[in-house]
Amino acid sequence: MDFNVNGLLNSLSYTLDYVEKDLISNVTNHGRRVAYIAARIGEKINLSDTELFDLISYSLLHDNGVTKSLIQANCSKDYLKAELNRMHCVEGEKNINFFPFFQKIPNVILYHHEHYDGSGFFGISGEEIPMFARIIGLADSVAIYFSEGRNSSKIESDIKTAQIFDRNFVDVFLEVSRNIEFWLNMDDNFVFQALRSITPSVHREFSYKQMRTVSKIFSNIIDAKSPFTGSHSRGISEKTGILCDFYEFDRETYWKMRIAADLHDLGKLMVPNEILDKPGTLNAAEIAVIQSHPFFTRKTLEEITGFEEIADWAANHHEKLNGKGYPYGFDENRLDFNSRLLCCVDIYQALTENRPYRAAMPHHKAVALMRNMSDHNLIDASIVEDINSVFQPVFVNA
Ligand SMILES: [Fe+2]
Ligand SMILES: [Fe+2]
Ligand SMILES: [Fe+2]
Repeated sequence: MDFNVNGLLNSLSYTLDYVEKDLISNVTNHGRRVAYIAARIGEKINLSDTELFDLISYSLLHDNGVTKSLIQANCSKDYLKAELNRMHCVEGEKNINFFPFFQKIPNVILYHHEHYDGSGFFGISGEEIPMFARIIGLADSVAIYFSEGRNSSKIESDIKTAQIFDRNFVDVFLEVSRNIEFWLNMDDNFVFQALRSITPSVHREFSYKQMRTVSKIFSNIIDAKSPFTGSHSRGISEKTGILCDFYEFDRETYWKMRIAADLHDLGKLMVPNEILDKPGTLNAAEIAVIQSHPFFTRKTLEEITGFEEIADWAANHHEKLNGKGYPYGFDENRLDFNSRLLCCVDIYQALTENRPYRAAMPHHKAVALMRNMSDHNLIDASIVEDINSVFQPVFVNA
């Protein structure tokens, strides 16, 4: 399938905004700004279209390890503190291992906070730091200074006097930042457009199996968001795969369903952890926020050409056959088999996982509860029975 990879990049940048919004209750467009600045530098040094595309991808993903590192380090909600935590470099590098860059360059994310003079986290210096990491490190500081409210000449002089950047790229940066348009494009209102217009339009032949390597990265980010649902998306994706094989789906549909399963809770990145992990009962406003997550899943995935069915299946996972689900209230006439399947796997996975307020249910108890739900025309009875027969031997005797 010929994927317009730009759509994928755009949706990545939206998603990572959600992460930021949760971490600092604000969208600072950090990833997009870093990508824009890096791309301006990349353009000036005459990178090819595919190199520029990769540089933008790396830049957008440079802090993808932040959710996980924050949880592991138990940091406060402070994005800058997270940037000072080397863990986000390690986790981020691991996470992007399978991203389909045109050309994979090792250690770009791992070393994005290395200093040219060797004073960074890992003590790597000079040309030992991959070129993209040197550009991203510089762009990262410019973006941070900019969001702290420093004006353009202060940023330029701070960058010029620091010893931690590659002088060659400092000079290129000073050249591209000379005109006021560079800074105007950094504004929150324009940076997305600015990035879009500098991004070379590239198409790539990807199979859905290859696209799944990208969705897996996002399922890790989603799962890392909450300590209580640490392997939820992974579990659903695995179980969905088992059922797709049981139903003898063709390979393309199999991989599309794995992608939908990986990304079904993508919109949860938009839901603040205070609400997601809140003990006790939620008020009406909080419930409305939680119930918005499949809507955001749809909005994000709809942007990607070739993801039309994936977006629908993923976003329908809280819809019910009687039309009482959320957020669309679709009923049995609108919910196709694959949407129903994902909904059932989501419920089965959730019931058989530990939650702060209850222990994981054994298989038979989860199935009993699901049968009760199908009796009330909430979920598909035949799928519940198939889940029972397929997973009983796998998970009961495990
Ligand atoms: Fe960082
Ligand atoms: Fe950063
Ligand atoms: Fe969900």
